[in-house]
Amino acid sequence: MLSKLRSDIKAVFDNDPAARSTFEVVFTYSGLHAIWAQRVAHAFYKRKWFSLARFVSQFSRFMTGIEIHPGAVIGNRLFIDHGMGVVIGETCEIGDDVVIYQGVTLGGTGKEKGKRHPTIGNNVVVGSGAKVLGSFRVGDNCNIGSNSVVLREVPDNCTVVGNPGRVVRRNGERVGDRLDHTRLPDPVIEMFRAMQKEIDGLRTQVEDLRGPGHKGE
Ligand SMILES: CC(C)(COP(=O)(O)OP(=O)(O)OC[C@H]1O[C@@H](n2cnc3c(N)ncnc32)[C@H](O)[C@@H]1OP(=O)(O)O)[C@@H](O)C(=O)NCCC(=O)NCCS
Repeated sequence: MLSKLRSDIKAVFDNDPAARSTFEVVFTYSGLHAIWAQRVAHAFYKRKWFSLARFVSQFSRFMTGIEIHPGAVIGNRLFIDHGMGVVIGETCEIGDDVVIYQGVTLGGTGKEKGKRHPTIGNNVVVGSGAKVLGSFRVGDNCNIGSNSVVLREVPDNCTVVGNPGRVVRRNGERVGDRLDHTRLPDPVIEMFRAMQKEIDGLRTQVEDLRGPGHKGE
């Protein structure tokens, strides 16, 4: 228990260059307070004391501006920076060493039942204002750009940006690069292909006009 608290505090120092002292971190980092409150709420939730769990969660939201459902499963060393406006849904699962910035929603689309919130892998950064909506997995070592809206599965080691979110980087390589010089279209070959198609068409027409039985030139 104590080692878990220590690793939560260490996660703040690892991810926030502005963190100065343990005293300051423990007493002023609302992301940390929200995570600790969620651990208490989750323990009540697991015992099926749902109302008490909800009460702790809502009190924490009132104090921190961060709403984490008591049912969410949170890994080790989660760091929520700034935090205001973060919403994490009931069936959300978060891996280890994840960083979440303010305004992030890990939610559902409103259509699903049962597991309806995302599963976030290990070592993922979810940028400010990003929305990850639905029951799918965001792989390990991914970056979700700020203000992205992610609606489908993200493989490991990817950067996703935009609305709807699209993978722009995978395993360190740019994806869909318009200036990928090894795959540039060759206009001369394209022209020859078009000419060949035209010639084949004309040949067929000439053979049809000459009628059956006519062979050769
Ligand atoms: C996505 C992010 C993690 C960068 O990841 P990266 O793998 O280094 O990606 P790059 O910076 O190489 O960007 C790749 C492409 O996505 C674009 N891009 C990056 N972030 C974007 C965003 N949030 N929205 C839209 N496009 C974005 C870049 O312009 C670049 O486009 P290009 O290939 O046409 O030049 C970073 O931009 C980001 O959004 N971090 C969140 C930080 C945050 O929320 N901070 C809050 C502090 S309070």
